[in-house]
This record gives sequence, structure tokens and C-alpha cells, in this order.
Amino acid sequence: MSDPLRLGIAGLGTVGVGVVKIIRRHAALIEARCGRPVEITAVSARSKSKDRGVPLSTYAWEDDPVALATRADVDVFVELMGGEDGPAKDATEAALAAGKHVITANKAMLAIHGHALAELAEDAGRSIRYEAAVAGGIPVIKCLAEGLAGNEITRVMGVMNGTCNYILTRMESTAQGYNALFVEAAELGYLEADPNLDVGGIDAAHKLAILSSLAFGTQVNFDGIEIEGIQRITLEDIRHAADMGFRIKLLGVAQMTGRGLEQSMKPCLVPSESPIAQLEGGTNMVVIEGDAVEQIVLSGPGAGEGPTASAVLSDICDLARGSFLPVFGKPSKTLEKAPAAMSASAAPYYLRMDLKDRPGAMAKVAAALGEAGVSIDRMRQYGHVDEAAPVLFVTHKTTSQSLAAALEGVAGTGVVLGEPVALRIEHI
Ligand code: NAP
Ligand code: HSE
Repeated sequence: MSDPLRLGIAGLGTVGVGVVKIIRRHAALIEARCGRPVEITAVSARSKSKDRGVPLSTYAWEDDPVALATRADVDVFVELMGGEDGPAKDATEAALAAGKHVITANKAMLAIHGHALAELAEDAGRSIRYEAAVAGGIPVIKCLAEGLAGNEITRVMGVMNGTCNYILTRMESTAQGYNALFVEAAELGYLEADPNLDVGGIDAAHKLAILSSLAFGTQVNFDGIEIEGIQRITLEDIRHAADMGFRIKLLGVAQMTGRGLEQSMKPCLVPSESPIAQLEGGTNMVVIEGDAVEQIVLSGPGAGEGPTASAVLSDICDLARGSFLPVFGKPSKTLEKAPAAMSASAAPYYLRMDLKDRPGAMAKVAAALGEAGVSIDRMRQYGHVDEAAPVLFVTHKTTSQSLAAALEGVAGTGVVLGEPVALRIEHI
């Protein structure tokens, strides 16, 4: 019988416990598929005494994840603690220095330190695998790195944060506002320890940064992403967008242009009949376009114990079979440093603003849009609320630069109350 692949697992929370359960439940299946057994040697978490609902007494226990990562009887260090720095990064570096492969679900660590860690791994002749870091149970990393290896990737898009999608779809289905549904998501345990990672668009941007590196052969560039969260989306926006034939999604878009790498993670309107508009709750969807394949659409559960552990098992099985690639698809020394480019491609926009209810107000706003070269496609005015007249515009295609100039002009008219909401419309 072949030698077993021996795992050291640090982090026994949602994902870690899920991994332990699958390894126990499917030991024979995994051995048959990998040609060798997969065993857990040792585990680590903060509390040794916590009941985690799975038997752990047969595994050695380490309080210190670094000690776990460097044990002689561990071949692969499985990092499932989280956090971009701290114990996750320390133990990952220690594991690589000790000649272990690393598997992680930690998108924050990879988005910030991915390039440096990839260099460490490749210098050590080892790999970092991270299928679970992006889009939960969807095998999008394998798809980009292997299934689409013969393509020049032209664009990657998607909904990659289940919590935001849950809040936005529940706003529409329950007619409750953002604040109430934020509380509901928190009560259901959906929010990250720092909720701003979810609702601020940062978690989804971490994932987009990782996909961009793989797709375009560039160094991970999280700082180059234009990020906007969902906190300013109101029930009115959801309703008005629906009225105009759209739904609102926190949408990531990455594409390489002659000016550099465009990456944005922002709430956008998508046509109600498009596949991405149909996504409900925590489901994720990633759309990849390549010169040969044209377009593929992957969708599935973006989080949770089973789906995320399923993705970790994909990495475990690959390593058990002896299969591993450079961390971001190409040797890290060949990954280019792509300059970040502001989105310059033209798109229609949804604009919502409250006008002072006085003669000529609408004309002034229309003139300000026109002076900046922004052409109105459709316009609606809704019932007055006190002194305010809520007005919606859908523009013809325009650039974000022209739109910014138009909004500056609109602010100067003196007839707009508060700050207008401007959301890009993406036709996917
Ligand atoms: P979690 O439920 O909060 O579990 C974290 C685990 O790490 C806990 O067992 C905790 O120990 C342990 N831990 C934290 N700090 C530690 C330290 N200093 N030393 C040892 N152990 C430590 O987190 P999770 O949801 O499983 O997420 C784990 C990773 O997967 C994160 O990177 C997350 O972003 C990623 N991820 C999660 C999901 C998901 O659906 N949950 C999906 C995709 C990716 P105690 O239990 O003793 O406190
Ligand atoms: N907070 C993340 C989400 C977990 O809501 O999608 C999965 O990465």
C-alpha cells in the first residue's frame, strides 16, 4: 500500500470541521481516487476543550499552529484559521520553510500576501493550493488554471460574496430595508467577524484579486481594485431598478486593457432576465470569457461547511496524487506587475436623485448631464416625498469619467437634495 498523505489542520471552525467530516466519511472513496490514503495527523485551534461535533481524540493536538505546520509527521499544512496576517501567515511561511505543501481557504491572506507567499513556495519546490478561497464550492481555480489553460482570458466577472447577495435578494423579496437585513444576516451567522469585509465589498474584492492573477498572469493587485460596498443601496433602488427591468448585484469585473488591469467590485444593475440576476441567497456565480471557449458560467454555493470543505478536498486529492502547479498558474517570477487602470469602458448608468420640487429643477439637471456629454435614455419621476421629487435616469453608454463630470455639474445646480446614487449597468 502507498504511504498515506498526512495532514495537519489548523482551524476547526466551519470549514475545518467540514474537512474532518469528509475525510472520515469518505476515507475509502478518497483512497480509491487518489491511489493512497489521506490521514489527519494533528490538529490545532484556540480551544482544545470545545465540543466540535466530530471525534478529534485520535489526532495529535498542537496549541501553536506554527508547531503544527512544522511537525515531521505532517506532509501538508491545511490553514483554515483566517486573517490576512497573524498565525495564518506565520504558520504558512513556517510550513513552506519546512518543506510542506500548504492548502488554505484564506482569500484575505492570498489577496494581500499571495505573491510573496507564492515566491516562497516556489523557492521551496512546494505549492499553495486555495480552491476554497474563491466562490466556496465552485471549482473556479481549477477551471481557470487547468480547464481553460489553452485560452487567453479576456474577462472575469461574478457575484462572489454570498452575504451581500443574501441581503440584496432578501431586500427585494421581503421589502425590508438594508439595516434590518444586515441584522438578519448577522443573526444567521453569515457575516465575517468584521462585517465590513462582506458589506464593504472587501471580501469579494479579495476573491477577484486572486482570480485576476490567475486569469491574466499578473501579480495579485488588491490595491488596484475599485471597491464600493452595498451599504448605500436602499429599498427604493431595488424597487426602481426592478421597475426599469434590472436587479442589483455586488458585481466584480476584471479585464486587461491596453492601459492596464481594470478591476472593480461594485453594486451594479444587471438585466432581470440575465442568469446572474437569478442568483438567490448565498449562491455565487463566476462568468469567464476566453478567446477560444467564448463564455462559461459557473454557479453554486459560495460558502458554508460542506461546499467549502468540498473545495479543500479537491486540493487535498490533487496533492495526494502528486499533482500541483505554480501557485498562480505560471512561475511567480514570470507574473507581470500590471498597472491598475480606472474603468474606461463605456456603460449605461442608473442615476437616482432627489430634486427640490420647484420649477425648472429637472431642466437644470438634464442640462448638466448634457453638458458633460451624458445622454438620457429613459427617465422616471415618482411621487413627491415632502419637498423632494425622486427622479431616476437610465443613461446611454458613457464613461465613468464623463459620469463623474456630469455628477459634479448636477451638484452645482443647487436643485439636488443629498447625494445622487449612480450605479453602472452591466449587460452580461
Ligand atoms: P471559523 O469558523 O471562525 O473558524 C476559525 C478557526 O480557527 C476556529 O477553529 C478557531 O479556533 C481557529 N483559530 C483562530 N485563531 C487561531 C489561532 N491563533 N490558533 C489556532 N487556531 C485558531 O472560520 P471559518 O468560517 O471556518 O473560516 C476559515 C477560513 O476559511 C477563513 O480564511 C475564511 O475566510 C475561509 N472561508 C470560509 C468560508 C465559510 O463559508 N465559512 C468560505 C470560504 C472561505 P476556536 O474554534 O478554538 O476558536
Ligand atoms: N463571507 C463570505 C461570503 C464567506 O459571504 O461569501 C465565503 O467566502
